Amino acid sequence: MNKDSKIYVAGHRGMVGSAIVRELTRQGYTNIITRTHKELDLCRQTDVETFFATEKPEYVFLAAAKVGGIVANQNALADFMYQNMILEMNVIHAAWQNGCKKLEFLGSSCIYPRLAPQPMKENCLLTGELEKTNEAYALAKISGLKYCEFLNRQYGTDYISVMPTNLYGPNDNYHPEHSHVLPALIRRFHEAKEAGAESVTCWGDGSPLREFLYVDDLANLCVFLMNNYSGNETVNAGTGKELSIKQLTELVAKVIGYTGRIEWDTSRPNGTPRKLLDVSKATALGWTYKTELEDGIRLAYDDFLHNPMRAER
Ligand SMILES: NC(=O)c1ccc[n+]([C@@H]2O[C@H](COP(=O)([O-])OP(=O)(O)OC[C@H]3O[C@@H](n4cnc5c(N)ncnc54)[C@H](OP(=O)(O)O)[C@@H]3O)[C@@H](O)[C@H]2O)c1
Repeated sequence: MNKDSKIYVAGHRGMVGSAIVRELTRQGYTNIITRTHKELDLCRQTDVETFFATEKPEYVFLAAAKVGGIVANQNALADFMYQNMILEMNVIHAAWQNGCKKLEFLGSSCIYPRLAPQPMKENCLLTGELEKTNEAYALAKISGLKYCEFLNRQYGTDYISVMPTNLYGPNDNYHPEHSHVLPALIRRFHEAKEAGAESVTCWGDGSPLREFLYVDDLANLCVFLMNNYSGNETVNAGTGKELSIKQLTELVAKVIGYTGRIEWDTSRPNGTPRKLLDVSKATALGWTYKTELEDGIRLAYDDFLHNPMRAER
């Protein structure tokens, strides 16, 4: 990308899209175009075609998606599949039709099989059954990354995809039912502290191991890959480090200053025992994460307290 290349960031008000805009701006890119969901519904094919035919972006970061935690996914399987599939196909197809030089598609580590060997390598894609609770979302994401691959193979495009681990940071979603584990814990411990609650009860026994990447580090990788990577195989984005949910809750409680008890409701499911990405491919390309988890949680909590955009979500 040149500093004045026309770059479209789809989903720029979301956590990932806003981080990509911040990173592009920080690196001196000056010609970034955006549309809010209200201005352009990416599920509407004709509107997407008109937008691309008029604007002709040279580069596209596809960070728009219908995203949610386990409850939201389970309760709306059809919506998650339909909206994500249509949105992706509309954007990727219109980008190709209008000569977009390069597109980067954002997926998620849930595309990998439920019982994939840990840490999960990029080449374990489609080697086993998906996790049932987010099967619809994962299938839509697999279709998106495969469509990029098939355009490359049939028409010689240079469309790539990146699969991030669990993300957190500015503009995250803190909705009580629709959020992911780390933002949900930030909200719960904040509310418990405010209310002076004696204890907070968390689901399961706290033993599952998980990995978390600060979203600005992901955005740095996304821009890096746009400039330095071509290929049909996706690239994992993570830290390669894991901690237990119990350790995570203790860290969040410490950052927030919650001093009450943490209790575990073991009648609730734990989820997959371990979920870690193999990040050796990104590392070999010359990229590594910068933000350690405790520092990142501090930055996220500050955003939770002070960011007016968050209140709208
Ligand atoms: N969050 C994570 O932990 C995580 C982890 C791995 C991968 N990812 C991936 O990163 C990408 C972005 O996730 P995120 O966390 O940034 O999600 P997010 O904060 O919910 O942002 C998604 C954005 O997409 C927009 N959008 C959704 N449907 C749209 C439509 N039909 N037309 C136009 N805009 C639409 C949303 O706008 P509205 O809010 O106005 O609808 C929102 O701005 C996704 O592909 C996701 O799979 C996220």
